[in-house]
Amino acid sequence: MKIISTSHYEIEMGSLSESTLNDFLLNNYSDSKKIILVDENTRNYCLDYLITEFDTLFEAEVIVLPVGEENKVLSIASSVWEALTEYGITRYDLIINLGGGLVTDMGGFIASCYKRGVSFINIPTTLLGMVDASIGGKTGLNLGHYKNQIGVFSNPKVLYIDISFLETLPIEEIVSGFAEMLKHGLISSADLWKRLIEIKSDEELIAKDLIYEVVKIKVAIVDVDPEEKNIRKTLNFGHTIGHAIESHFMDTTAIAHGHAVALGICGEAYLSMKKKMLSLEHYKQIENIIKSNFPLIQFSDEDIKDVIERMRQDKKNTKGKISCVLLTAIGAAKYDCLLTDKEIGEALFHLNL
Ligand code: GLY
Repeated sequence: MKIISTSHYEIEMGSLSESTLNDFLLNNYSDSKKIILVDENTRNYCLDYLITEFDTLFEAEVIVLPVGEENKVLSIASSVWEALTEYGITRYDLIINLGGGLVTDMGGFIASCYKRGVSFINIPTTLLGMVDASIGGKTGLNLGHYKNQIGVFSNPKVLYIDISFLETLPIEEIVSGFAEMLKHGLISSADLWKRLIEIKSDEELIAKDLIYEVVKIKVAIVDVDPEEKNIRKTLNFGHTIGHAIESHFMDTTAIAHGHAVALGICGEAYLSMKKKMLSLEHYKQIENIIKSNFPLIQFSDEDIKDVIERMRQDKKNTKGKISCVLLTAIGAAKYDCLLTDKEIGEALFHLNL
């Protein structure tokens, strides 16, 4: 079992059956009610394992969230709060978030607001959840088409990463998590980037040591800047364009978060190169990796206009200006870089080529 200590909680990485989960439940919540929050996928593929492996969870109530970003909204959170009320959940009970980013984001938010805070733990089941979404205390919901506009920082009591859950995932989900892994390499570790781009198979990608490396990078960043006042902003690399692309397509051809982030990484690396912060050689390497691992999308003039409009709503903007993270090298990033509409339009147009 690998343990990564953060300032607020511990992350255990290894088989859940060998983790401290059983002791944690017995020592802290033996007389409490437990809620397991899942989505339709983790109900089908992951829930049985949890309930059969841990006797203490046999009588837990299960709440199922509908799959899809369009469901990461207040009305669904509200119906979960109503269910918690029906089950008589108090502040002394526990919510177990078992799922990908949607479940840990929503579950953390739901737990943190209910009765001013019920404890929760995260058990991420997707690659993206394990390397990014479940770590760092960002919880929240979408507001209309705008991603994660409502939320609070709130940490789980413990986080358990068991990579055997990844065996239940379709390939697109693994690729989606790969985008966030690449991001971590690009912003802070040329060595990780090099290892990631040399990967030859999915098995190598989901090997424990690479995931462990990414988790350590994420923890190191969020631990020094938990509320994103400075260095944590670098974790948003690829997300200013990425979130806007994701929300633009939400109602039509919905694309996965990681896919949108991959396109955002390519666009923001292009901007880094155009602004002479990143060498052409490094940009080409990034473009090559993204374009060979993720499907490209053709952006019409209308799409580009709308994506820029959505970028204007980004939480990270300051004084009405669109701001994003750019690379200064592979493994180094600069935050609060201001962009003009013309520059963004050119980067999006370049994704078509
Ligand atoms: N996913 C970006 C962050 O946690 O800050």
